[in-house]
Amino acid sequence: MGKRKFFIDTDTATDDAVALLIALRHSGIEVLGISIVAGNCPAPSATQNALYTRDLVGSKVPVHVGADRPLMRPLQTAQHVHGIDGMGDIGLPLNGRNPDSFKGVQALIDAILNNPGEVELVTLGPLTNLALAIQIEPRVVNLVKRVVIMGGTAVLPGNITPLAEFNFWVDPEAAHLVANSGIYFEMAGWDISVAHAVIDDELAADLRKLGPLGEFAIDIQGVLREFCINSSQFEGFDLPDPIAMAIAIEPSIVTKEKSLYVDVIPGDGAARGQTVVDVLNNLKKTPNCRVIYAADRDRFISMLRNSLSS
Ligand code: RIB
Ligand code: CA
Repeated sequence: MGKRKFFIDTDTATDDAVALLIALRHSGIEVLGISIVAGNCPAPSATQNALYTRDLVGSKVPVHVGADRPLMRPLQTAQHVHGIDGMGDIGLPLNGRNPDSFKGVQALIDAILNNPGEVELVTLGPLTNLALAIQIEPRVVNLVKRVVIMGGTAVLPGNITPLAEFNFWVDPEAAHLVANSGIYFEMAGWDISVAHAVIDDELAADLRKLGPLGEFAIDIQGVLREFCINSSQFEGFDLPDPIAMAIAIEPSIVTKEKSLYVDVIPGDGAARGQTVVDVLNNLKKTPNCRVIYAADRDRFISMLRNSLSS
């Protein structure tokens, strides 16, 4: 059996970078491409961050620049969480690398059309690129094999507003379109990161000892760690994108799930980007989402260790 075919959409900042390492270093996965979406930081920075991370592991996976703003509103970044450069502002040389194209949405469409029924799409940022792909080429809905989304919250309040998780909040219209596109998606919400992917100082120090990739993965998290300790009241920093990637690679690390109808609130106001999980099937709509409620932390940490070990 050949390698599984992944395509990754990312707003590359400090947790995305670790998720990219997990995928790029996995022997059973062929990453067909990486598309960049504006989110954590502006698209040019996210592009350089993805290219830098790719180069760290000697990968030649094509990086394609996609949407530099949400569908219908100005971009609002999370540079206060991940640093101005998106990679912790530790002085990494994050410039001068050239992306493979500026056609990220078309690259996503082409990967799916050229590999019907085979592509496992993992989204790590706002859903702008995926929404545009669906609008341009609706066939992607039925030809993509899987869609694993880091986004939303199933049970927790939000992390950017009391009601919304950042990826869904940045481009709520895109998230609403994807949720109602006919795609059946898997939602690894921020809940999963809070519950199973918080890295405290002791574990961070241990991971850092794994070698250069361990040092990179930890050293870029300083701004995120300060934000998490001071704002989210965590005992360290959390890694939402890496645990979503781990779930994409090994679906069985999910320990509690339910197939439900999920929507995302578009527009402005307090509910912008809120995840609506129809637990009691009040809306009588066909389930469109594998809602992930719990995962195996030990298996996630083990995957993380393997990815960061020299
Ligand atoms: O809410 C967490 C998500 O928003 C993660 O994907 C993080 O990288 C940011 O994009
Ligand atoms: Ca992200």
